[in-house]
Formats: sequence, C-alpha cells, structure tokens
Amino acid sequence: MLVREDLNVPMKDGGVADDSRVRAAAPTLQHLARRGARVIVMSHLGRPKDREPDLSLKPLAADLGKRVGRDVQFAEDCVGEPATSAVDRLQSGQLLLLENVRYHKEDEANDAAFARLLASLGDIFVNDAFAASHRAHASVVGVAAYLPAYAGELMLAELAALHRALDTPKRPMVAVVGGAKISTKVGVLRHLLSRVDALLIGGAMANTFFKARGWPTGAGLVEDTALDEAREVEKMAGGKLVLPVDVVTARKMQPGEALRVMDADKVEPEWMALDIGPRSIAQFRDKLRGAGTVIWNGPVGVAEIKEFADGTRAVGEAIASSAGYTFVGGGDTVAAIEALGLAGRFSHVSTGGGATLEYLEGKELPGIAILKDA
Ligand code: 3PG
Repeated sequence: MLVREDLNVPMKDGGVADDSRVRAAAPTLQHLARRGARVIVMSHLGRPKDREPDLSLKPLAADLGKRVGRDVQFAEDCVGEPATSAVDRLQSGQLLLLENVRYHKEDEANDAAFARLLASLGDIFVNDAFAASHRAHASVVGVAAYLPAYAGELMLAELAALHRALDTPKRPMVAVVGGAKISTKVGVLRHLLSRVDALLIGGAMANTFFKARGWPTGAGLVEDTALDEAREVEKMAGGKLVLPVDVVTARKMQPGEALRVMDADKVEPEWMALDIGPRSIAQFRDKLRGAGTVIWNGPVGVAEIKEFADGTRAVGEAIASSAGYTFVGGGDTVAAIEALGLAGRFSHVSTGGGATLEYLEGKELPGIAILKDA
C-alpha cells in the first residue's frame, strides 16, 4: 500500500517544530496497518535543490511511529535499491517511511519513469496528502497512472469539511480573510463572494482596499499594482464586503512602538495600520454572532507581534465561540490560533496552506482530480 502523506512540517534544530501534519496523517496509516497492510509512506519536506541533509525525512520516522503507535522503518531513498530492499523486508502491519521524494527533481517534474518506479513499490495508491494535492507531482499525481488510487481518511475529512463549509453552508455564511496581499488572494475573494453573505477583510490587504477608495494609508503596506483588482472586488461584492472602520497604527512594525488607533479613512502620514481597531472588532463580532458557517483564512493584523495581535485574538475568539460550523485554513492562520491559545476550538482546521487556498478559489486540485478519475 503506497500512501502519499504531506509530512512537510516545520523543523527546528533537527527535530519537528510542529507535528500537526504528522498527527493528521496517523489515522489513515493506523487504519491500514491494523488491517494488515504493508504501509509505504512517501512525502516531501521543504523544497530541496539537491540532497540537502537538513531536509531529510529521517527524523520524522520516530515521530510518525509515536503517533501511529507502531515502529516506522526508514529507507534512505524513495526509489532504487534502498527502497526496494526495505519494501521486501516489510511485513504485514508494518510501516516504512521513504526518504524525501523531492531529493529527485523528477518528482516535481511529474516524470513518468520516476512515477512508475515509485508505483512499483506498492499495489494500491492512497493519496492522503490533501495539503500537497495542488501539486501535479509524480508522488501525488503521476503514480495514479500505474496503480488504483484511493483517498485516505485525512483527504476525505478535508474534502468533507470544505464541502460542508462551501457547498452546503448553514446561513448566514461569513468569511474572514486577512493577510498581507490581495494579489495572492483575489481568486479566493472572488470565489467566496459568490457564496457568502458577508466577507470581512483584515490584515494589510485592507490597506489596498482603503487606497482604492481614495483614503490615505500613511506608511502602511499597500499593493499599488492591485488597486484595480481591489476596486473590482468591492464592486462585485455589492454590500457584502466589510472593511475595518478603525485601525491600530504604529510608526514601525516592531514591538515596543507607540500605538495610536485611527479611523480607517484618516490614517496619518508616517503611521501604518498593523491591526484592526476596537470598533472594527465590535463590527466583526457583530457579523460573526449568529453565523451558521464561518470560513477563516488569514490573520487580521500582524499577529506574531503581541501589540498587533488583539484583533486576530478577538476575531479568533468570536469564531471559536460561534455555534455555527467553523472552518479555518492557511498556514499563518493555523500558526496564529496555536500561538493565541485558540487551537482545538474550531469545527475543522485544515492542514492545507496553498492547497486550501486553491480549493477556496474554486480550482480543481490535480491530486484530487486523479482520485475522481480513478
Ligand atoms: C505546503 O506546505 O503547503 C505543502 O506541503 C506544499 O508545499 P510546496 O509549496 O513546497 O509544494
């Protein structure tokens, strides 16, 4: 059984800094091992240019073993003799983790010969790597040309959550989108606007909307190349777009700065908006109260700096306290809820970063498309 997981976790000092993705991968692997499968796990880690030792998956084997509750063997390469001999030794109910598939550039190139080599290690392919399913790589997509392909439990859980939030939402449906740039999220904004009852905008991307309205933005981060897109989004939104009415500003984006709250349409020169202000928090809370479904992507301020984290904390708290279905996605948002102590209080926290964004844009993900074809 050849299983693609996304074990692309943040590493620190040679160990796993955040094992959320390892924990999320465990149920599928446990399930397969318990049923007597010989479980071969493949994943990428980081974006290695060659065999960068820091991006070896070897340290992950022990973590994975702990989470699955069984020993996990490790093969020093994902293809060739190290892989085939480790697979030959593997007994029913045992697990084997293969070395980083991206040590071979053929993975990202979706090289057919490489995909065939990977596929030759197993007899059934399980794609459980929702978070990597926006990548048309050999280990995600290519192997499905040679093996019957199925979705793993994590994949199914992610898709069920997205389906519930996007396609069959209990109303009112409210989305909160933050983050720095409109340009990376304009597809998400457009797609969400076709479905939501209200779209609340925070983070530095709000500045671009402010400037597009002709408001002064001081020293705030603005994407001048995205002003037209901001105008377009605002036009298509009708009355659904909710922008902050006040902002917390400082002269520099660093701890220990003097702070001032300003009206969003009156940000003074040399000051930059770094969080939403108290009136905006109240306004956002009001919109979130009684929501049947909430989709949250992106912190509404510079949440990694204490002084600018109040907005994200308050909005996160309001979403966490909602009686509706709450879906949280995106790497920065997940990091923020962990740091702010809000983890465990949402209906679904996606393991996907880029993959979740592309799904929220309404795009078809190649790693999911192959499952439908199969
Ligand atoms: C992610 O962390 O979003 C996925 O693992 C994909 O990683 P990539 O952007 O390097 O393809």
